[in-house]
Amino acid sequence: AEAAAVEALLARMTLEEKLGQLTQYRGRGSDTGPRVPEGGEAQIRGGQVGSFLGVYGADYSRQMQQVAVEESRLGIPLLFAHDVIHGFRTTFPVPLAEAASFDLEAVENAARIAAVEATAHGLHWTFAPMVDLARDPRWGRIVEGAGEDPHLGATMAAARVRGFQGADLAAADTMLATAKHFVAYGAAEGGRDYNTVDMSERTLHETYLPPFRAAVEAGVQSIMPAFNEVAGVPMHAHRPLIEDLLRGEWGFDGVLVSDYNAIQELMPHGVAATRADAGILGLEAGVDVDMVSGIYLEDVAAAVRDGRLDEAFVDASVRRVLRAKHRLGLFDDPYRYSDPAREKAVTLTEEHRGAARDLARKSFVLLKNEDDALPLSAGALRTLAVVGPLADDRREMLGNWVAAGRPEDVVTPLAGLREALGSDVRILHARGADIDGDDTSGFAEALEAARRADAVVLFLGESQEMSAEANNRTTLDLPGVQEQLARAVHATGKPVVAVLFGGRPLSVNWLHENVPAIMMAWFPGTEAGHALADVLLGGHAPGGKLPVTFPRNVGQVPIHYNHKNTGRPPDADDKYTAKYLDVHWSPLYPFGHGLGYTSFRYDALRVDAPRIRRGDAVEVEVRVTNTGRRAGEEVVQLYLRDDVASVTRPVKELRGFQRVALQPGESRRVRFRLEPEALAVLDAGMRPVVEPGTFTVFAGGSSADTVETSFEVVTD
Ligand code: IFM
Repeated sequence: AEAAAVEALLARMTLEEKLGQLTQYRGRGSDTGPRVPEGGEAQIRGGQVGSFLGVYGADYSRQMQQVAVEESRLGIPLLFAHDVIHGFRTTFPVPLAEAASFDLEAVENAARIAAVEATAHGLHWTFAPMVDLARDPRWGRIVEGAGEDPHLGATMAAARVRGFQGADLAAADTMLATAKHFVAYGAAEGGRDYNTVDMSERTLHETYLPPFRAAVEAGVQSIMPAFNEVAGVPMHAHRPLIEDLLRGEWGFDGVLVSDYNAIQELMPHGVAATRADAGILGLEAGVDVDMVSGIYLEDVAAAVRDGRLDEAFVDASVRRVLRAKHRLGLFDDPYRYSDPAREKAVTLTEEHRGAARDLARKSFVLLKNEDDALPLSAGALRTLAVVGPLADDRREMLGNWVAAGRPEDVVTPLAGLREALGSDVRILHARGADIDGDDTSGFAEALEAARRADAVVLFLGESQEMSAEANNRTTLDLPGVQEQLARAVHATGKPVVAVLFGGRPLSVNWLHENVPAIMMAWFPGTEAGHALADVLLGGHAPGGKLPVTFPRNVGQVPIHYNHKNTGRPPDADDKYTAKYLDVHWSPLYPFGHGLGYTSFRYDALRVDAPRIRRGDAVEVEVRVTNTGRRAGEEVVQLYLRDDVASVTRPVKELRGFQRVALQPGESRRVRFRLEPEALAVLDAGMRPVVEPGTFTVFAGGSSADTVETSFEVVTD
């Protein structure tokens, strides 16, 4: 029925109306909220636009939808799209932080809540999840993904797609998800956003494509190509990867939406001489919707009439857009997403705030905790100094890419601690320094607060404006004079702990060597202060793990746990091995690292059958015991290495994880099942194959701290 309805409509459309469906314009801000651009209503009436970016609001979207449905010739409903990345009004931790929770259910729920709020405001389509794998922390957009690992990236991608799209796309609270940016955007040379990408076919298939494949398998309805080229072909014109792989081999039948102005950017890329050429390349590659450049609407009709573009390409794209509108149920009821009563009822509810607080707590990664410096023992404290530029800044807590989140909704760390400690503990607050810049005039006040306190919590890190699109850095150090501030506060001799904010790994070597406890809090969202107070004061233990390696300095980049062994693995006693003269080859904190307030022992790792036949699955079990005095949550990680293969393999690769809660003294046997695909390599001809031989299995609470065993694959 869907196909027949789409064909019937397509048959009635003029070429201009078809190109209108493939055109997306950007909204503009106004005193009364986001609105369509100047002249937008006339374009809707004229059938010249199929979707808008950044236009929402239950009442307003309803009005615009009415213009489309009642006043345009064919009455085709509009799509309203927006970057709903980590929450809508209720802002969840930034995506990299969400990944640090290693909690797929909580991450899916965050996307679900974002969709519930966003759809009530009239939105049908989010440009999330970003599933770009990133091994270069200079790249600002590392904050928007799930870090460096293909397995973590793939499982997070699928969880987010399930969350946004729900079980039924036509329900009023589900929306189209967009897996972006296809592909290898995270591998931009030098960590410079938009920059050139060149990589082997093997790395592309083994490392960068799996999260997209997982999103497609989870039923993602939309994909956005990347701004970058891959090996000489800009992704917006990449027929082999889009048509042959994505649509052909993988069977993706949803909508491809260009990135912002990226059709036009085929010209500076140097593969199109004119706007029309750029439009032809985009449509021939299968990019259905042109975001903001206006090329499809303005320049493509003439190309079709001149015979330079086969109208079949336009038709194929229109079919996909109409199909998406169908699947959302817009042809049955174009107004189902624009519901003022629901908008009021579901926005920033206590339940949503509770979920944001829970996920923020789960995302914190305790990097170091010497002598149990954390949690703070509130009972023993009379005065606490709260110092640093991020202690009381509402906007910073939200992180970048905030859909409709508002600073006034945010609980800052200072407010959270005040609320939790009440009048029992006196809090002395001093900003001390700005996030960036060289002004040290605030140090005196901070030092005075530290001297008068029993303990100091430093809230340091990056500004939210230092990560996300176009926000790349050439250093991973704390910006400005923050390290100086930390050194000065430390010199007072008072007990100091540090909480870090940021959207990327930070090389905090001095803190690591001098401050007993350091916790990475990323950008925690609306409930930042509550979540931080919960964890700093011991009401909840941290259990997050690093989804990305923290280098000792930027010169180690790229550095990731799943590297190859090389013929000369680093050896401290042998000069001619793969290492540096000036810095150890290991990272500051490895992938998967993260402490809690208790300790865990791993033992009794066993594979059910030490010899399996090619094509069989493997069952693995490990015993994890809480050996400390507090309850805690642990992310049990399972890694695998194919010891000898026909092509080189990484030293280990994550193949499974489970977050478990254990009471003191409690043991749990955690089981994993490895399907044959988890054992496969791409052979020299790029065919997936399980090769006979031994495999090492590693289990542990970090990629660098594991117990191991092995099993063998035999051919008969
Ligand atoms: O969705 C984004 C994309 O990730 C980066 N460029 C702008 C788009 C729309 O806001």
